[in-house]
This record gives sequence, C-alpha cells and structure tokens, in this order.
Amino acid sequence: MTSIEIRQRFLDFFKEKGHKIVPSSSLLSSDPTVLLTTAGMQQFKEYYLNKPSPYGNRVTSCQKCFRTSDIDEVGDDSHLTFLEMLGNFSFGDYFKTKTIEFAYELLVKKYKIPEFRLWITYFGGDENVPEDNESQKIWQKLGIPREKIFGFDRKDNFWGPTGEEGPCGPTTEIHFDLTQKPCPKGENCRPNCDCGRFVEVWNLVFNEYYQDKEKNLTPLKQKGVDTGMGFERLIMVLQKKSSVFDIDLSEPIIKEIEKNTQKPYNLNQKVYRVITDHIKGAVFLASERVIPSNVEEGYVLRRILRRAIRFSKLLDLPKIFLIPLAQKTIKIYQNVYPEIKSAEADILTIIQNEEEKFEKTLEKGLKEFDKLIETDLVGNKKIISGDKAFWLFETYGFPLELTEELAKEKKLEVDRKGFGKAFKKHQEISRAGAEKKFGGVGKEATYEAARLHTATHLLHQSLRKILGEHVKQMGSDITPQRLRFDFSHLSKMTTEEIDKVENLVNQKIKDNLEVKKEEMEHKEALESGALAFFREKYPERVTVYSVGNFSKEICAGPHVSQTQELNKFKIIKEESAGAGVRRIRAILEE
Ligand code: SER
Repeated sequence: MTSIEIRQRFLDFFKEKGHKIVPSSSLLSSDPTVLLTTAGMQQFKEYYLNKPSPYGNRVTSCQKCFRTSDIDEVGDDSHLTFLEMLGNFSFGDYFKTKTIEFAYELLVKKYKIPEFRLWITYFGGDENVPEDNESQKIWQKLGIPREKIFGFDRKDNFWGPTGEEGPCGPTTEIHFDLTQKPCPKGENCRPNCDCGRFVEVWNLVFNEYYQDKEKNLTPLKQKGVDTGMGFERLIMVLQKKSSVFDIDLSEPIIKEIEKNTQKPYNLNQKVYRVITDHIKGAVFLASERVIPSNVEEGYVLRRILRRAIRFSKLLDLPKIFLIPLAQKTIKIYQNVYPEIKSAEADILTIIQNEEEKFEKTLEKGLKEFDKLIETDLVGNKKIISGDKAFWLFETYGFPLELTEELAKEKKLEVDRKGFGKAFKKHQEISRAGAEKKFGGVGKEATYEAARLHTATHLLHQSLRKILGEHVKQMGSDITPQRLRFDFSHLSKMTTEEIDKVENLVNQKIKDNLEVKKEEMEHKEALESGALAFFREKYPERVTVYSVGNFSKEICAGPHVSQTQELNKFKIIKEESAGAGVRRIRAILEE
C-alpha cells in the first residue's frame, strides 16, 4: 500500500463510521499560546469546551504537524519534526468503548496488522486521577492478553493540554512490536522500553478534564476523544520498513542526497535523516510564507535550514543543495497538499535566499568556533560563554542551538543563560538608541510619533489589502521625520502597487476615521481579529487600537484620535530589507 492509499483508507474508514473529514489546518497555530501546530486536536480545541462544532460531533483529519521538541531525536528510526498525524475526534459523542473498538477494527481488520504484534499501555492512576480500568478491560474483551497491557503514569499516559490551559485526560496507547525480541531486560522489555523494540503508533486520548493555568484539574461537562496516529510510523509498519525514513514519503529525498555524495546512507544515517526531515519542515513552513528570521516561527525555519546546511557539509554536498531536495519534497506531497505546488516559486526563493546568506558566513563561523575553543577554553574550561555564543549568533548567524550542537560534539557546554543576558542587553541598547532619537522616553509620546504610529497601522492594513494577507509586520521604526515599515513579501513592489497602497492610505485619511482604544485580554484581542506580531512577548492584557472598521491591531500607541490629523501620506522608498522582506519608508506631508 502506498502512503496515499494508507492515508485515504484511514479517512474513509472514519467517514463510514459517521465522521466528517476536515482538512488539515495551518502549521501556524491558531492558539495564541502555541507557536506551531503540534497535534491534530489543536484546531478543534474549543469544541471540547462546549462550543458547537460546525462539522458535527465526529470528525477525522490528517494534520500537518511540527514538533521542535523532538529535534534532537531526529536521526533515530522513529522521530521527526515535520510529520502528519491521523486522527478521529469525538466532541461529547462516543467515548472509550467505541474509540478502542474503532482503533482495533481499523488496525487489525482493515490494515491487517497481526494482532499479536500489538501491545497496549493505559493510565495507571495517580493521586489526582484514578486508574483507567475501563480501557484496560475493553482491550481485554477485544482479545489482547492481559500480560500485554501495561499501566503507566502521567508522563506516558496522560495527554495535554496544549498551550497554557485546555482539555486533557488519560490515554491508552497502541505500540507495535518491531523486532519481537526482548532486549537484555527480558520480561521488563515492554512498551516505552528504550531499546527500540517497540514503536508507539497511536495515542487515544480521553479528554475528561480541563487544566487551568495553575494546573488544577476540573472534570469537563462534556467528555471528548482525541486520537493521534503517527502517519509515518503507520506507513513504516505497513510497508514493513525499519524506519520512518525508509518509507515512500522520504526515500526519494534520501536517494537524491545519495546521488550527490561519495558517503553512503548506511554509514551516515543520522546526517541523511536530519537533512531529509528538515527540508520537509522548511518546505511546509515556507509554503505558509514564513520567512527565516530571529523570532518565533521565522526562527524555527531559520534554525532547521541552517542545521540542514551544516549537516550537508558533513557529506560534502554541493552548495545550494537544498533546492533540488525542496523540489523533490514538493513532488512527493503535491497531490495531497496542492498548496505547496502553487507556492513553489516562493518556497524555493525563501530557501535559496537563506541558503545563500548562511553559506557566506558558515565556513568563517566554523573557523571562529574552532579558534574560540583553542584560545578561550584552555585548561579545564568546559563552558562557552554567553557573550561568545551571542557573538557567533550576531556575526555569523549561528542559531544558539547550532553553537550548542557544535559544543556538544567537543564535550563542551554553552552558557544558555548568559546568551539570554547578552541578547537582552543588545535589545536594550537598540531601544536606548530609539529613545535617543526622540530625545528621551517622555518625549517619545510626541504628537509626531502618534501621527506616524497611526499612519503605520493604515499602511500595514493597506498592504494586506493590495498585496495579500501574507503580508506580516517584520519590524517598524519611527523617527520624528519618517516611518519605516518592514514586512514579509517576496517580490519588489511595482509602481502601480505602490500607488495603490498610497492612495488607499490617503483615502482612509480623508474619510476621517475615528481611532479607538480598548483594553482587553490578549486572547480576546486575537479572537476579535486584531493583528499581532511577536505574539509571545505580549502581556496578558493588551491595548488594541482600531481605525474605523479598517484596521485593528494590538499596539502600545500613542495614536491620534482622527485620521485627518495625518494630512497626507507619501511613500518615499520601497526596497529590500533582506530575503523575503521589503521595507517602506514613508512620511506625512504638511
Ligand atoms: N493529541 C494527542 C497527541 O498528539 C492525540 O492526538 O498525541
């Protein structure tokens, strides 16, 4: 069975059981407390909390996921950062019996996995939540022997919530016996053993509780089910392969790498696998117009691209090698995710720009790293200082994690806290610079600044209207004379586009829209559609400025009260501000 057939069979099975097939949501999480989508249930989170589901109470999906938490494990047989997750979900409809029966029927009867290779875990209970005897009994009733069913604690068999709060509950997991041979632990070799004998394939979560920010559990009014099956792991089992990299969704990429190096896959597994995993994640993130940067999802993309480039050096791969691999990735997934085909040109531009940028400094940076070890770490010193790690970051574009990885290979550590301090100090210096421009903090709130702030909001929204919703703020700077606005967009703006944006801003000035200020919870602001950037740094309560019905943004201000106060807006320059980022300078004319 090909991966396409396996995916379809899953969705069809649950459709037959009355589930609605819902398309994968974006990799960029809709939950403001989580950066990326890490599980299929994320897009359905509120339907566990009594909000009616527009899809009905039984749904199924195949969800694109990205898990940075597993990045260090990538290279073994079963971990990935980019993966697809198959799931079925019930919002107050069926519960434990049906969930387990469905899973059993699909795996054993439909996919024909030999029952004797399935082992089960369930929640064994703790001081807050009782043992899940019910699940254990259902499995037994279906024919799984008691001695293949094991109770585990919270770490292994309790799931959620994603983000700071939300639905969660005990789980029962299905593990596949890959080797059928116990390790030296003998009888104690069981699911969750780290010897590699078992792979966890499917996690069935029974959402019975709500966990709040203080980690208190309260029973949910309506019980729900959230299941997640690692798609690549299922394929590995069904295609009888020994790793998630040997399946049809990865093999073409591995082969493409192998064609271009003297170093074979079987002797360099980890390196091949890291590159393969990271190129997939990069393609899918870039397809959502994420631009490599030093914050949030942009940083995740930068980190995996730079890590892939550095690993490609270990195989002596040619320069700008990620492009053919990205093309292979698009080919593999385009039938299922047509959006990556239509974004191909942008994806390749984003990746190539980052590759060219990093290629320029990588070799120098690596040399500096070696020098640093020789000169700074003489004697017994085992720690690279935060200042040095920050210097590598600033000067050579080394993500902190890359420096950590290089350090680890030499049995050294990096002072992470010190890096954080150096980073903060740098930010404070930049901020101080900005304050100086306005002649001190107090004076920053001058009328001119307020006018330019409001103009920035109008510009931002106009760019989104004229160029498209992919436009995202990447930076903004205001001096008494002008505003500067950086945003994600791949191509140079045409004169016509510039005119259109300028005209739209001026129209909104003429309309004399009212600027309204409101205070609200950060979450509420996002739900109301307010634009926000650098999400993580916002306090819980935020100020939201709306300009008529035209624009709504989280912002600290200051702003004018009516748009006519801006008089006339003029764009004086449109230029590149790095890969995939454009910069506009504009003024307000008297
Ligand atoms: N949310 C659970 C998981 O991600 C099951 O879907 O494992």
